[in-house]
Amino acid sequence: MAYLNENYFKLKAGYLFPEIARRVATFTSDNKEAAARLIRCGIGDVTEALPAAARTAMKAAVDELGDRTTFRGYGPEQGYSFLREALANEVYAPLGCDIAHDEIFISDGSKCDTGNILDIFGPKNRIAITDPVYPVYVDTNVMCGHTGEADDTGSYGGLVYLPCLPSNGFVPALPLEKVDLIYLCYPNNPTGATATYEQLSAWVHFARENQAIILFDAAYEAYITEPGVPRSIFEIEGARDCAIEFRSFSKHGGFTGVRCAYTVVPKDLMASSADGKRHRVHPLWSRRQSTKFNGVSYPVQRAAQALFSPEGKKEVADLITHYLGNATLLREACLAVDLQVFGGVNAPYIWVKCPDGVKSWDMFDRFLHEANVVITPGAGFGAAGEGYFRISAFNSRANAEETARRIRSMKW
Ligand code: MLT
Repeated sequence: MAYLNENYFKLKAGYLFPEIARRVATFTSDNKEAAARLIRCGIGDVTEALPAAARTAMKAAVDELGDRTTFRGYGPEQGYSFLREALANEVYAPLGCDIAHDEIFISDGSKCDTGNILDIFGPKNRIAITDPVYPVYVDTNVMCGHTGEADDTGSYGGLVYLPCLPSNGFVPALPLEKVDLIYLCYPNNPTGATATYEQLSAWVHFARENQAIILFDAAYEAYITEPGVPRSIFEIEGARDCAIEFRSFSKHGGFTGVRCAYTVVPKDLMASSADGKRHRVHPLWSRRQSTKFNGVSYPVQRAAQALFSPEGKKEVADLITHYLGNATLLREACLAVDLQVFGGVNAPYIWVKCPDGVKSWDMFDRFLHEANVVITPGAGFGAAGEGYFRISAFNSRANAEETARRIRSMKW
C-alpha cells in the first residue's frame, strides 16, 4: 500500500493564484463579452518583451550548444561561475555587502527556493511568518508538517503570525516569544511596503540573540526607487551570521517564463543539531542542490548574466520604469475614488483597503463583474489581508490606463 503525506490534506482549497484563475475561467466561460474586455491585474506576471541583451546572449549560447566543440552537458548544480561572479560583483559589491561568488546558488526560481530551503531545517523550528504574506511560505511549511490545522480564517496552528498593518507600516513588531526561522520580504509582497535600515537591524539583532535565521525574500528589490531603503539584508551588520537571501530575475529582467533566480547562503551562517552543536548551513544547501537539482540551463544563465551588461542594465531600468509608471496610474485612480492606498512606489503592487465592511473576495467579485478586472483578494495572503485587495502593476501601459479608468468609473 502506498501512503500519502497527509499534511497536504491540511492545505486550504487551491493555491491562491490557480484558485483565482479557476474563478476567472468560470466567469469568462459564461460571459464572452466580459471575457474579451478582461484585464488581469491578479498574479504578478510580467508582460513586456524580454530584454534584447538577454535574448542575444541566449541565442549565442544556444549556438554554442549546436557545435560539439563548444557544447556543454550538465552544468554545476550551484550555477556557472560566470553568473555567480557577476552577481557578487554587480549586485553585492556595489551595496558594500561582503558576499563571495560561491555563497550564491543559482536556481530556477525563488518560489522553489523558499520552499526547498525547508529540506535542510528540522521539524522542531518555531516558524514566524508575516501576515499578510506570500502564500508559498505558509503552504510549504504545511506540506512539511510544521503546522497544525487551519482555522476558519486560514491561519495554521503552530505558526507564529506577525501582523503587518498600516499602524506598523506593514513591518511587524519583534515577536515576544522565541522563534527559530523568520520569513521577511521587503519590498513586500503583497503590501508593497519597504523596511528601513533600523527595522531590519532590529530583526538582525533579534535573530542573532535567539540564534534564529531570517529567510529574506528580496525578489522585488529592483523596484526600490526612493533613496535610503535597504536592498539586501546583507547591508545590515551581522546579517551574514543569521540570514539567507532569495532573489530572482523574474521581476527584475522579466524572466517569469525564462526561470532564473539565486539564493545567498553565507558561509558564516550556523544552525543547531538536536544535541545543541552548531553546524554550517552552506554545505547542507550545497549538498541538497547537488542531489535534487541539476542546475539552470546554460542559455538561461548566459541570458541572466547579460542583464548586467551596460545594455542589459539600461533595459532592466526601462522595464522597472514601465511597471512603476503603471503603479502610479493605478495608485492615483484608487486615491481619486477615496480608497486608502499603500505600496506602488518602491514595489509593483498596490495594496488597497476595501471600502468599510467589504470582504476581499466580495471585492474580487465586484472588480470581476463591474470592471472586468482581475485583482487579488487580500484574504488569500492571510487573515490580516482580509478587508484589502492587491492590484498588480505588471501589465501593458494601455491596460494599466484602462484599468485606472474603470476603477474611477466603478460605483464606490
Ligand atoms: C505574485 O503575484 O504574488 C507573484 O507573482 C507570485 C510569484 O512570484 O510566484
